[in-house]
Amino acid sequence: MKDTISPSNGSQVDLSVFDSLIERAHTCSMKWEKYKDQDIIPMWVADMDFAVAEPIQQALVGRVGHPIYGYTVPPDALRQSIADHLKREFNWDIDTDWLVFLPGVVTGLAVSCRAFCEDGDDVMVNPPIYHHFYDSHENKRQKLVKVPLKRFDTGRWTYDIEAMRSACTPKMSMIMLCSPHNPTGTVFEAEELKQVGDMCAANDMTIVSDEIHCDLVIDGQSTHIPTAVACPEQADRIITLMSASKTWNLAGLNTSFAVISNTKKRAQFETACQSIVPLVPPLALVASHAAYAGGEPWRQALLQYLSQNYKIIDQEISSIPGLSLEPLQATYLAWIDATELRLDNTQAYFEKHGVGVSSGEQFGQPHYIRLNFACPASVLNEGLKRIRTAVEQLS
Ligand SMILES: Cc1ncc(COP(=O)(O)O)c(C=O)c1O
Repeated sequence: MKDTISPSNGSQVDLSVFDSLIERAHTCSMKWEKYKDQDIIPMWVADMDFAVAEPIQQALVGRVGHPIYGYTVPPDALRQSIADHLKREFNWDIDTDWLVFLPGVVTGLAVSCRAFCEDGDDVMVNPPIYHHFYDSHENKRQKLVKVPLKRFDTGRWTYDIEAMRSACTPKMSMIMLCSPHNPTGTVFEAEELKQVGDMCAANDMTIVSDEIHCDLVIDGQSTHIPTAVACPEQADRIITLMSASKTWNLAGLNTSFAVISNTKKRAQFETACQSIVPLVPPLALVASHAAYAGGEPWRQALLQYLSQNYKIIDQEISSIPGLSLEPLQATYLAWIDATELRLDNTQAYFEKHGVGVSSGEQFGQPHYIRLNFACPASVLNEGLKRIRTAVEQLS
């Protein structure tokens, strides 16, 4: 794989590409299969109904033209394109040797539990949180300690550092962070991350920081700060998990990576991968490289489109009594409080009215729903219309 993809790759991407309605039936899409043959718009799992960027499609077609798909090692050009991206976007200087390639970020969470925790250890997570944070540890071997995020009156969610400090036991060996945060959409500030870093240092804990949504800050004001950048003095205890998959819509290709600067920790992590974690497939490596090396104009256009979609949701939801939209800094997953509707099963109710949202319960917050708005605006508008009708029928 030669690094022939230019970062700007020519011109700007026209926002109208995101308006295209692309038929996904017959592609075995998990998102669409769930409601196959039903009039329910799938707005749940985090993949986008947008075609990938041209440079990615071209690179994949180019690779498919070679008819052998054997075991493949991550090429230097990919390692370098990731290092360049991290420097450009987050002013993070990494050594390309720190990268460990993985078929998924969730794999990275599970491997971290196996690599850095002993039997009987405690692992901290902060609900509400992406559901795989609840099932990545080795059941019965580690105990999950849940310290809920706190919610400001503004609807922004953040760490409850006092409660977290109090929950630290001598057995607390690791914390799993999600930054930016799914499902609340929070982009954490340097000081917030630093407080967590200091707490982990005081208790000698490993920090696993899932930053899969780092390239999806949509509010135009916030900046994602990698935990390793916010807490440079704690870099040796940090495992950062990232991927091109959410941002460039490659979730089905199985591509992600860990950044581990500490040599001993990297070796422990790689040992825990042995015999369990497969190599990243060749097409995944090609697509990742094309994303980091040539996908920036598309990403910029995507952020604009997502931000427009979020404004549409904001306008609509604020005029529907009983629903309240939390302010979102990052991700394409709107976090909506439906407590006032007093429904037994909020998700099922909206499904019945033609909108397939994720249940807040899955993330640890009953009576909330999560709505994936990475779809053409026309689809989003139809989904919101159905939500309005569903709520109106309650009165
Ligand atoms: C915070 C977070 N981590 C991990 C994942 C899944 O990552 P992967 O498919 O690479 O395992 C998601 C998917 O939505 C996510 O939101």
